[in-house]
Amino acid sequence: MATCSAPGKVFLFGEHAVVFGKPGIAMGIKPRVFVTVRRGKNPPRVNSPYIENCFEQTGVNGSAYIHSQLPSSSGLGSSAAVTVATLSAINEEYNLGMDRSHIASTAFKIEKKVQRGRASPTDTFVSTYGGLVLVKDNKRRILPPENLSLVIGNTMVSHKTAELVGMVGEFRRSNPHVVDPILDAIEAVTIRSLHNFHNQKTLGRYMDVNHALLEALGVGHPMLTRLVTAARTSGAYGAKMTGAGGGGCMIALCPKRSKSRIAKAIEAAEGRAIITSIDTDGVRTEDDS
Ligand code: PMV
Repeated sequence: MATCSAPGKVFLFGEHAVVFGKPGIAMGIKPRVFVTVRRGKNPPRVNSPYIENCFEQTGVNGSAYIHSQLPSSSGLGSSAAVTVATLSAINEEYNLGMDRSHIASTAFKIEKKVQRGRASPTDTFVSTYGGLVLVKDNKRRILPPENLSLVIGNTMVSHKTAELVGMVGEFRRSNPHVVDPILDAIEAVTIRSLHNFHNQKTLGRYMDVNHALLEALGVGHPMLTRLVTAARTSGAYGAKMTGAGGGGCMIALCPKRSKSRIAKAIEAAEGRAIITSIDTDGVRTEDDS
């Protein structure tokens, strides 16, 4: 038996723009998915296409049990974390000798298959390596970690990433002169944020700007507006939606001492709050004893 766990992720800057080759910044977050794999001849006990595909891809039989701290379908990368943790547990249990880069690329392949072509390589990369990740020219690279206090607000409105990405693509095709400057502005904010990680007030301001630009792309939602407003008025440095939008989650950058006040304000606005910070471990093996 082997248990592995893998973290979720948030986009700090640049979601949607990354689809058009612009830079983005994502980060591993503390909530994790734990998966225990046991050897066996029977098919996997969990009814998850991600897990089934992990066994299929690696050519072994066994069962898997999931314990997740991440809400699903909310843009926090829970399916990527399930896939990465399952592959890693299979790797441990059967001594397959896969390294992290093999796990990340196989997990992406599985996500793409299950999600019928649309998957984010960023989710599987961040879940595998953790930390702060720069997406640039469709490649991903790990940046030095930053100690940011975040509160995540889940609108509990589920969203479909593929639909939202398709919608933005269509908007751009029909209105390139309107949409391209918005994407350029998101790029500018993302690049400037890289120089301002130690100036959280400025970073927060950039999050506010990025949120407005995502709204201009048409991926806002009234519940996101509500939670973002609640976080800002209760003392956050800044707040924005994270991920595809249209529901899902928002993040607020907070002064350390105000985290619980901001979380309460998000809950009072009918969101589910998660107080979190960076995860730098990525996928890891848990002690089963
Ligand atoms: O699936 P989500 O909600 O984590 O968001 C995906 C982020 C996008 O930039 C919209 C798509 C992508 O592949 O990066």
